[in-house]
Amino acid sequence: MDFELSQDHKVLRDSVRDFVTKEIKPIAMQIDEEHMIPDALVAKMGEMGFLGSYLPEEYEGAGLDMLAYAIVVEEVSKACGSSGVLISAHTSLACGPIYTFGTQEQKKKWLPDLNTGRVIGCFLLTEPDAGSDAGAIATTYKRDGDHFVINGSKIFITNGGYKGTGVLFATSDKSLKHKGVSAFIIDLNSPGVEILKNEKKLGIRGSYTTAFALDSVRIPVENLLGQEGQGFKIAMDTLNGGRIGIASQALGIAEGAFDLALAYSKERKQFGHPICELQSIQFKLADMHAKIETSKLMTYKAACLKDAKKNYTMESAMCKMLASEAATFVTKEAIQIHGGYGFICDYEVERMYRDAKITEIYEGTNEVQRVVVSKMLLS
Ligand code: CAA
Repeated sequence: MDFELSQDHKVLRDSVRDFVTKEIKPIAMQIDEEHMIPDALVAKMGEMGFLGSYLPEEYEGAGLDMLAYAIVVEEVSKACGSSGVLISAHTSLACGPIYTFGTQEQKKKWLPDLNTGRVIGCFLLTEPDAGSDAGAIATTYKRDGDHFVINGSKIFITNGGYKGTGVLFATSDKSLKHKGVSAFIIDLNSPGVEILKNEKKLGIRGSYTTAFALDSVRIPVENLLGQEGQGFKIAMDTLNGGRIGIASQALGIAEGAFDLALAYSKERKQFGHPICELQSIQFKLADMHAKIETSKLMTYKAACLKDAKKNYTMESAMCKMLASEAATFVTKEAIQIHGGYGFICDYEVERMYRDAKITEIYEGTNEVQRVVVSKMLLS
């Protein structure tokens, strides 16, 4: 058992860190305030290979592995949770299933633009009445000649505002529950696709969270992903991978807040001494660090299991659960260490606290993660 990153992963981490310091950290506040990530930054992240890190070079991916992807999302999220989730949802939830379940023709057609960030991807599963109960989706599809016709609606779609390429889930017959679900690749510029709104949110404000109406949208039959009726399995498999991405995002947010809190505790003087000399602050720092390290070990383990093509369903649910709960804990304590300053919008920990909360919710609430883990334990 080796707990050290390989030399290649260390080099990658340092180069991502360097990029983040120069290109993302200086504008992280602006991203939050303006509720958008500049297109120029998205393009640069694409050029750096951040948007197709574990996808093969054959499809213009960076040809790295899942651990490298986790490191990229973690490092970016240390500075900006919105940019972290852009990468995570795009890579895990759009590039991932097309690569895993797509035909050779589908991979050649859709992956190069996605892997380089020329087009941004998203995952259209959630609906107003189908959140945790993903098998209850009501968006329908019907075959009509050489097309499928889609009708319904989708909500909470990360990256939806880019109107790029989506992996869409619809049912042929709602009474079949998860057995009626199929997956499709959809060009979100197709007629009948309408953005209803981009949500205003507590945190990750630079990231689009979009609601769509789908009115008689025609999708060519060659865009069916996998087999008809295999959609729920594709969704679950994709989310298993996605949860490693969200764990990495949460881990990054926690580390970013911890670094700021640690530095502040050494600078801030009260009662004639830096506050890090107070045991009450030292205990906080120790708890924060322990939770971060635990989350990191589990997140990297889940990524390594996926790389080794071993079952990682339970570990991905556990790392998402642990890291997101670490993120909300650590960011809350980071504000406490900053005292009144931490509550002021000029201090980055305020944004990090808001950004952390969603990691306990999306790609399956932590209650869902506990269902996944307990089902595995009892099966
Ligand atoms: N991995 C692989 N297969 C899985 C699985 C997993 N994690 N969870 C379930 N399955 C399989 C089961 O083995 C079962 O297979 P069989 O039919 O062969 O027996 C099948 O799927 C149905 O399983 P369940 O009966 O357990 O399904 P369920 O309806 O009770 O749901 C659930 C289980 C874990 C709650 C699942 O519905 C779930 O994960 N829900 C959360 C969905 C979610 O994360 N939504 C957020 C999506 S993100 C989004 O849309 C917005 C965005 O952009 C971020």
